[in-house]
Amino acid sequence: MAAGISPIGNPSDKGSPSDGDDTSGGQSSEKQPSVQSHWIVRASDSNDFQYAPIAAEMLLRASQTDDIAARSTYLLSQKITAGHAALALDGEQLVGFGYLARWKDNTVSHSGMIVLEDYRKFGVFRELKSILMDIAEREFADCDLISLTCSPAVKKVNEQLGYTVTSLVALTDDPEFWKGCQGCKNFESVNKPGSNCEVNSLGTRCCCTAMRLYRHEE
Ligand SMILES: CC(C)(COP(=O)(O)OP(=O)(O)OC[C@H]1O[C@@H](n2cnc3c(N)ncnc32)[C@H](O)[C@@H]1OP(=O)(O)O)[C@@H](O)C(=O)NCCC(=O)NCCS
Repeated sequence: MAAGISPIGNPSDKGSPSDGDDTSGGQSSEKQPSVQSHWIVRASDSNDFQYAPIAAEMLLRASQTDDIAARSTYLLSQKITAGHAALALDGEQLVGFGYLARWKDNTVSHSGMIVLEDYRKFGVFRELKSILMDIAEREFADCDLISLTCSPAVKKVNEQLGYTVTSLVALTDDPEFWKGCQGCKNFESVNKPGSNCEVNSLGTRCCCTAMRLYRHEE
């Protein structure tokens, strides 16, 4: 299936973001999307470069509170203009983002997955993931999909797509992938002496769950 514009989502269809058990701190009512708010989710293209610094800022902010690494504007700009990113847009406002990265051992990750707090729990991530799955299917059909996450939402959607939990060393041995962990707020603490977090192929530690979608039988 080609990536494209998904059906319009409307936050008012699913109630208030603070109705659920969101552990992100809840939302004040004035911060909630208005009933007129809606978003589309689509693959990026070469005209979308202006979203790179905004996505970088979203990730930087999230990296201070959530288990996600910051990414540079330069990297995100490359991903966006190559058509290897998914954008969730409410009008012209970027409200969700994610991108694909191919690693040297024929694996592809969906990385930098972020949804603004006011837009969480409405299925935006699920739609971003669907777009990235379509791009991977089209452009990287020879690759397994990998995921490194502490997020219950990401684990849930991954499992539903057929990903299974694996060890960190079985995820990828590309050092560039693991270097990305250095932008995570937990990197220092999980790599202190005495840490019981798992070791990856680079020899550093990580407490996220490794998941892999095997697309080719050995
Ligand atoms: C993780 C994140 C991207 C999820 O975005 P989202 O748009 O809220 O996710 P969705 O609404 O598509 O939810 C997908 C599923 O996960 C569930 N879910 C969402 N948040 C959840 C939570 N905190 N705990 C448990 N399940 C959750 C949803 O109910 C949904 O399942 P359902 O369709 O059966 O109801 C968002 O919370 C976020 O940006 N977090 C901060 C950055 C981060 O941690 N990114 C992931 C790095 S690996």
